[in-house]
Amino acid sequence: MPENVTVPALIAFGDSILDQGNNNYFPTFIRANFPPYGMNFLGARATGRFTNAKTPTDLIAEKIKVKEYVPAYLNPFIQDQDMITGVSFASGATGLDPLTSRINSAIPMMDQLQMFSNYIRKLHVLVGKVETGNILNNSLFLVATGSDDFVDNYFTYPIRKVQYDIPSYCNYLISKASTFVKELHKLGARRVVVFSLPAIGCMPTSRTLSGGKYRSCASIYNKAAKFFNKKLSSELYSLRFRNPPVKVVFADIYTPMLEIIKNPQSYGFEIVDRGCCGTGEVEVSWMCNALSRTCSNISNYFFWDSFHPTEKAYKIIVDHLLQIYVNDVLSL
Ligand SMILES: *[C@@H]1O[C@H](CO)[C@@H](O)[C@H](O)[C@H]1NC(C)=O
Ligand SMILES: *[C@@H]1O[C@H](CO)[C@@H](O)[C@H](O)[C@H]1NC(C)=O
Ligand SMILES: *[C@@H]1O[C@H](CO)[C@@H](O)[C@H](O)[C@H]1NC(C)=O
Repeated sequence: MPENVTVPALIAFGDSILDQGNNNYFPTFIRANFPPYGMNFLGARATGRFTNAKTPTDLIAEKIKVKEYVPAYLNPFIQDQDMITGVSFASGATGLDPLTSRINSAIPMMDQLQMFSNYIRKLHVLVGKVETGNILNNSLFLVATGSDDFVDNYFTYPIRKVQYDIPSYCNYLISKASTFVKELHKLGARRVVVFSLPAIGCMPTSRTLSGGKYRSCASIYNKAAKFFNKKLSSELYSLRFRNPPVKVVFADIYTPMLEIIKNPQSYGFEIVDRGCCGTGEVEVSWMCNALSRTCSNISNYFFWDSFHPTEKAYKIIVDHLLQIYVNDVLSL
């Protein structure tokens, strides 16, 4: 943390990387509020976080000294103080493409912005308009989305593949991302971190579907992610508006993730090609459940299920990201 900088709140948007349990509160199959999810969380509680313990939302909030656990906005039991220090609007399996959230019954990105407007009105009541302005001006905003647009939409269903090749689908998604960030800026966000796509081809599910006999990283997925990331990075750079000022930072998670997967031992991992839950090759959400066998020692695993990293993997990546980006985004 830069000296003398305090961050009043952390606010998150996007998909299951940052979802703190919003999907528990409306009908969808994409959930994580049953064991073995949360196996290593406080009290071994399955809260709807899509991993074995804390998500990057919690880990980042803790590192920037906001709080230890970030609540899901839709949780009806949030205390006022918890509301004031930030919430997550993220919803597992949403995407930039509205079709993705429709396929998966997740909260569309634009609806998450609407929820954020309602949140601002609640803050007005709780702390008044001036303090709300202060909170918005100084808080850290996280945005992580796009993986599901490829993994469980473009590469799974024929609809978008017929309409778009990969470069034009990337352009379509990036125009959506750009609109999202502009709207977020209009609503008052100033310090915004947008995550790149991870190395989606190395997710156990992509290896199983498209990695061939040896379940290698699916190169077509990773190529799409790299192309998307390059375009997103330059688009976000163009959004560094001065009036009112905003700092939009593109956070590359693709490179550190691939580095760990290529050199697992250097980071204390043994198994990086399957998750800890079940066979580890296909199980995610409702397929990873109380009947699934879990691995004997989770600290050897990069992936928790066939989509999501373990808390240990998230911690390594988050520490790396904060070192690189925190000064830049908080220097506003
Ligand atoms: C931080 O605050 C302290 C006390 O107000 C002050 O002495 C110091 O110069 C500040 N440091 C920076 C880098 O602004
Ligand atoms: C928030 O930032 C805007 C734009 O820089 C500024 O006009 C406004 O006074 C700030 N609000 C507070 C409460 O600091
Ligand atoms: C789990 O694995 C880690 C790292 O390889 C090791 O340090 C630890 O002792 C193991 N724990 C158990 C219970 O075997």
